[in-house]
Amino acid sequence: MNQDAYTAVDAYLTEVLLAPDPVLDQALAAARAAGLPAIDVAPNQGKLLHLMAQMVGARRILEIGTLGGYSTIWLGRALPADGELITLEYAPKHAEVARRNLALAGLSDRVEVKVGAAIDTLPTLTGPFDFVFIDADKPSNPDYFTWALKLSRPGSVIVVDNVVRSGAVADPKGDAAVQGIRRMNAMIAAEPRVSATAVQTVGSKGWDGFCLVRVLA
Ligand code: SAH
Ligand code: DHB
Ligand code: MG
Repeated sequence: MNQDAYTAVDAYLTEVLLAPDPVLDQALAAARAAGLPAIDVAPNQGKLLHLMAQMVGARRILEIGTLGGYSTIWLGRALPADGELITLEYAPKHAEVARRNLALAGLSDRVEVKVGAAIDTLPTLTGPFDFVFIDADKPSNPDYFTWALKLSRPGSVIVVDNVVRSGAVADPKGDAAVQGIRRMNAMIAAEPRVSATAVQTVGSKGWDGFCLVRVLA
């Protein structure tokens, strides 16, 4: 693990390919000032999510796990003016920070933050969503994948964050997060209505990865 090199490359890639963005910088600063953990996606990962949502032509996006709304802003900006994003967050304090950040980003008209355990708020939602980003408590990933599929349509895309966890996912005896990711992967593999892959990433957020799922039918 050469974290300094990964961080230096991320700094370079972000500098060369991402425009300076005071709104996103301010959102991160506000999250840190409020004491929220620095587990937001990295800037170049946020833009990856943004580009994927645009590639799908997403008009309705679901996010599970808001934190301070950093990934939410990236995804919300992929929407057309009449698009909609619903983001689910357990911690009222996180939701409050996110709402303020989303307002400063000019996205309050398109984004709704729903507070509560996602397992309780998911059943209140009406699909279909064109794009789903799963990024909350990892032991619940099998449930979140089941709901994401239920709330999808053919052509929807589901992205799951943090599926590698510094390599821990390869250990069949891993912790509860690893068990959640591995059970989700097994469900995805056994599900004929989806096609999926997963990729490892390194960068400023360490060694992790995304699972990418396309809903077929
Ligand atoms: N998507 C964010 C990071 C999310 S961090 C970003 O990249 O910017 C994970 C978030 O999931 C935390 O804010 C945590 O409070 C929330 N969370 C944890 N358990 C949850 C649950 N059961 N239901 C909904 N949200 C949950
Ligand atoms: C954790 C959660 C995340 O969503 C993330 O991107 C990194 C770490 C965590 O709970 O440790
Ligand atoms: Mg994450």
